[in-house]
Amino acid sequence: MPRTLTINRITKQYTDGDRRIDVINDLSFELMSGESLAVTGPSGSGKSTLLNLLAGVLPVDKGELVLDVPGGAVCMHDASERERTAIRRQQIGYVYQFFNLVPTLTVLENVRLPARLNRRRDLDKRAAELLQNFGLADRTGVYPEVLSGGEQQRVAVARALLLSPPLLLADEPTGNLDLANTAQVANLLFQTAREIGVALVIATHNPEVAAMADHQLHLTGGGAP
Ligand SMILES: Nc1ncnc2c1ncn2[C@@H]1O[C@H](COP(=O)(O)OP(=O)(O)OP(=O)(O)O)[C@@H](O)[C@H]1O
Ligand SMILES: [Mg+2]
Repeated sequence: MPRTLTINRITKQYTDGDRRIDVINDLSFELMSGESLAVTGPSGSGKSTLLNLLAGVLPVDKGELVLDVPGGAVCMHDASERERTAIRRQQIGYVYQFFNLVPTLTVLENVRLPARLNRRRDLDKRAAELLQNFGLADRTGVYPEVLSGGEQQRVAVARALLLSPPLLLADEPTGNLDLANTAQVANLLFQTAREIGVALVIATHNPEVAAMADHQLHLTGGGAP
């Protein structure tokens, strides 16, 4: 199985006034394609910070973060912000905690957005197929505001999967959902990720969701009480 993600001794600190917060300390791990990693830990332990480092939203302070993608290995730790943004757009699916759907676009347009941003015109069928698989075939023409939380989260997952990216990041994707929706969204995420061979990193407070992952990483970082 090819390796998608190599993290070698990465460190991230924040400075808050004259207080220094060591959020990620000397962290190393690897993740193969088709494998999943659950990131757990109390509020403030650095789960979102880690996902933002993996997504290239934030730069690492020290260490190496290498993404193996079609076209070659990318050293995210050496890349400029502009390069990291391009990689994120092309190679990384990111399910944000609060959905981040575009309110002025329909469900179908939201799911097609990554294709539009990458000038891919060949993915319309795939968008429709994902919405069908996610039980949203009859919701394609509506705007996000009329959807339930579970439906919005399924749209966000479909959108993150559209390009079949080598790396999929999900920040508490079931955080705002009831039991039934949590199970449904978690199953869809893990199943689809395995099917298309994505490396999945999921931050979660839910022990049952964390237990569905192949590997577990428990953070206790500097900001945690
Ligand atoms: N931009 C920033 N500047 C200073 N400190 C920050 C910044 N962003 C986050 N922090 C601090 O870093 C620590 C880790 O935050 P992070 O958001 O990664 O935690 P988390 O594990 O995702 O928490 P939660 O479970 O509440 O989402 C916290 O103490 C937070 O206050
Ligand atoms: Mg968080």
